[in-house]
Parts: sequence; C-alpha cells; structure tokens
Amino acid sequence: MDRNLKEIRKALESAEHVVVLTGAGISAESGVPTFRGADGLWNNKSIVELATPESFDRDPRLVWEFYNWRRGMMATKEPNPGHYAIARLEKKVENFTLVTQNIDNLHRLAGSENILELHGNVWRVRCLGCRKEYEERKHPMDEPSYCECGGLLRPAVVWFGESLPHGILEEAFRVSATAEVVLVVGTSAIVYPAAQLPLVALQSGARIYEINLEPTPFSGQATESIFGKSGEILPQIIPEES
Ligand code: OAD
Repeated sequence: MDRNLKEIRKALESAEHVVVLTGAGISAESGVPTFRGADGLWNNKSIVELATPESFDRDPRLVWEFYNWRRGMMATKEPNPGHYAIARLEKKVENFTLVTQNIDNLHRLAGSENILELHGNVWRVRCLGCRKEYEERKHPMDEPSYCECGGLLRPAVVWFGESLPHGILEEAFRVSATAEVVLVVGTSAIVYPAAQLPLVALQSGARIYEINLEPTPFSGQATESIFGKSGEILPQIIPEES
C-alpha cells in the first residue's frame, strides 16, 4: 500500500475523535451527479435558479417538478464502497461524526448513524404553514404539495441564499474544533460555511486528510491530499477486517 495511505490508516486507527466531511464527490461513483465540473448540475443556469426561495415563491409547481426529478433519480442510487467504508469507520472510533453536504441519504443507507446533514435531505419536507418538518417518501409528490394543515410544503433542503439548519451547523463547528483527525472527501471546498469546517479543525491542531479526484483550494493546507476516487481509496484506509 502507498505510504501516504498507510499513514492515514494509522492516524485513523489511533484517533479517538474523528470527523468526516463529505461532498457530492463521495456519491459520484453511485451515479449521483456532482454540482460543478464537466457534467455538474449547476452548469445549467436555469437549474441554479430553481434552487432558490424566490423561485419557490414565484412558481412552487416548477420547483416541485425539479425536486420530483431529483428524488426520482436519487431513489435509484445505492451507496458505493466509499459510503460503506465511512460507515465502518464510525463503528471503530469512540467519538465519530459524519458531516455531509449531500442531500441524497446514501450515507444513511450505507449504515452511518451519527450524521449532520448541513444542506438537508431530499426525503424530508417542511410546511410553510405549521412549520413542521418530516420525512416524506411519497413519489412523485404533487406539484405543488400541501401539508395536512393546508400549508404549502417545500423540500427540506438548503437553497441559495438560505441559512443552514440551526443547531446542525453549530454542532459541526463544535466537533470540527475538537477532532484529532478530519477526512475531507469529495468536496470542492468552496461553498461556505461547510468549507470553513476543515479550517477550524486545522487551527485547533487536527490532522486533515483530503481525498478528491483533483486539487482543491484546501489542498495546500491539508496534512495530506490523496488524489483519486473515494470509492477506491476509502476502502484501502478503512479495510473491512481491521
Ligand atoms: P461539487 O460538485 O462542488 O464538488 C464535487 C467534488 O468532488 C469535486 O472537487 C470533484 O473533484 C470531487 N469528486 C468527483 N468525483 C469524485 C470521486 N469519485 N472521488 C473523490 N472526489 C470526487 O460538490 P460539493 O463540494 O458537495 O449545496 O458542493 C458543495 C455544495 O454546493 C453542495 O452541497 C450544494 C452545492 O451548491 C447546496 O445545494 C446547498
């Protein structure tokens, strides 16, 4: 095994407090499109505009149509070896938190439990009337969809210009500031506040290992960056038998 991978494996085996931060790249090998890069979802400007509260105010039917498409696509996807390796790591480390920017639910399907979903979850909805938030698996959803109380339902995901869920972000900062080892996997590391988390960890003296197909703005500061597919690298540093 590569010397750098061995070093990361050792660091993970001896750490008592580990945080993993993931982005769309961890799900790329499951077939979920990333946001940036060649086939990125956000390359299409009119799609970007759909992920805004203004679009939803203007045309909730159209935004629900977009989310029905995303839900339908994500429903067919399965976790890949990268997701499973992270779920294994949780079982081995005393104090473990997975912080994800993904809304696709694949980490949970792989068996991860202690998850902070910074950008929400595509299978949850929130009522703009009674403010209740809950899981809603029905597919397709009505376009638009309404709550039992008669209020308009929206996907419980974070849109452009919105704040991250209260409490979840604070918890993500808290665990990042106290972690010994942080893995940063498959994120372009340019979307704040998520991109701030590894920086906070770095300031507190954590070792930070990045896994990505290519260099990111964070690579220069990471303890080590490993370039390659997370679905191939993670199972090597978190093997099944150890
Ligand atoms: P991006 O699409 O910005 O970045 C995906 C990253 O994954 C890139 O750095 C790729 O190089 C890397 N990557 C792709 N395939 C990979 C693989 N097989 N193994 C390892 N790395 C791989 O996605 P995010 O960083 O997640 O927010 O984007 C952050 C946020 O921006 C998203 O959560 C979303 C978006 O706007 C909201 O919707 C609120």
